[in-house]
Amino acid sequence: MLSAKLSKMPQDAAADTIQEAVECLKKGDLVAFPTETVYGLGADAANARALEKLYKVKGRPAAHPVIVHIASQEQLHNWAKHVPEAAIKLADAFWPGPLTLILERAPHVLDAVTGGQDTVGLRIPGHPIALNLLRQFQGGVAAPSANRFGRLSPTTADDVRKEFAGEVSAVLDGGPCAVGIESTIIDLTAERPRILRPGMILKEQIEGVLKERVYDSLGISPGSVTRAPGSLKSHYAPKTPLQVLEFAELVSLVQDAIASSEKRYVVLSFRQYPGAHCPIPWVVLEGNAVECARHLYANLRKMDTLSADCILFEKPPASSEWTGINDRLARACAK
Ligand code: TXA
Ligand code: MG
Repeated sequence: MLSAKLSKMPQDAAADTIQEAVECLKKGDLVAFPTETVYGLGADAANARALEKLYKVKGRPAAHPVIVHIASQEQLHNWAKHVPEAAIKLADAFWPGPLTLILERAPHVLDAVTGGQDTVGLRIPGHPIALNLLRQFQGGVAAPSANRFGRLSPTTADDVRKEFAGEVSAVLDGGPCAVGIESTIIDLTAERPRILRPGMILKEQIEGVLKERVYDSLGISPGSVTRAPGSLKSHYAPKTPLQVLEFAELVSLVQDAIASSEKRYVVLSFRQYPGAHCPIPWVVLEGNAVECARHLYANLRKMDTLSADCILFEKPPASSEWTGINDRLARACAK
């Protein structure tokens, strides 16, 4: 079992252990914690004032719902009006793990959690520190990714500290996240299940468990009102503009830029620079979707610190296991 190293934020001297993080949650304070997907910024999901603090620190519009993290399947009944069979099958197959279920909310669930909708998002995360925190806390922890609204999700405790220095009572350090992109979200409230946000649990895996067809996420047009900020087009974005290109096009842009010294590009590609010497920052990505997802945000963050005009990303394969990665890249590119 991983032991939690709890780093103290400058304005907080209290917390040293998971137990102290639990006390923070009980007091209505915010605690950042690791999950297997990305770091979450947690608040007591039953405490309206804690949720208010969470929305304020995150800079998130009030109508956007947050996922409630729980420690056990039995707790589903505390948050959902009823728990359909499909939810139990998926929970048995994938929890603890990177899957969020959207179910009909129980009547007492706060509007600040659901964004005023009649549904609630629930998941048991697969990280020992998160599980430990949730078990000791006993209640549900509302936790969006621990980044400011619209920015890249954090995959290390350091990313969180940089983003929220002084604003969060405690950051539990569980090392780098193993999955690296946010959970797959599946809506089980309609006639047929629908993926609202693709992730590393694939549609085919879900269909295999449910033995029925599952709808893909709806393409949502920019600026349209949306139920999920993760489905806003411009989201998960580095500050530097990002372009996703076929390799040949990417290389030709780079070579033109080098010849004219007009633009400063940095590159994330599955292949090496084809010339003898590459004069710009060029990182070779893992060609396997699981590894690529694990390091995706860390790579984008690294490139974001280089004051480039644009990050060029080689277009990943279109096959199923890359759906979550392609989704995040498309959103990061969107204006
Ligand atoms: O992997 C994850 O899901 C991470 C970790 C921390 O658990 N959390 C995460 O939270 O990505 P956040 O808030 O950054 O994204 C949650 C997504 C949002 O797109 C939100 O709108 C959607 O889940 N969501 C939450 N409740 C919902 C609901 N009732 N109906 C539709 N979408 C919902
Ligand atoms: Mg997020």
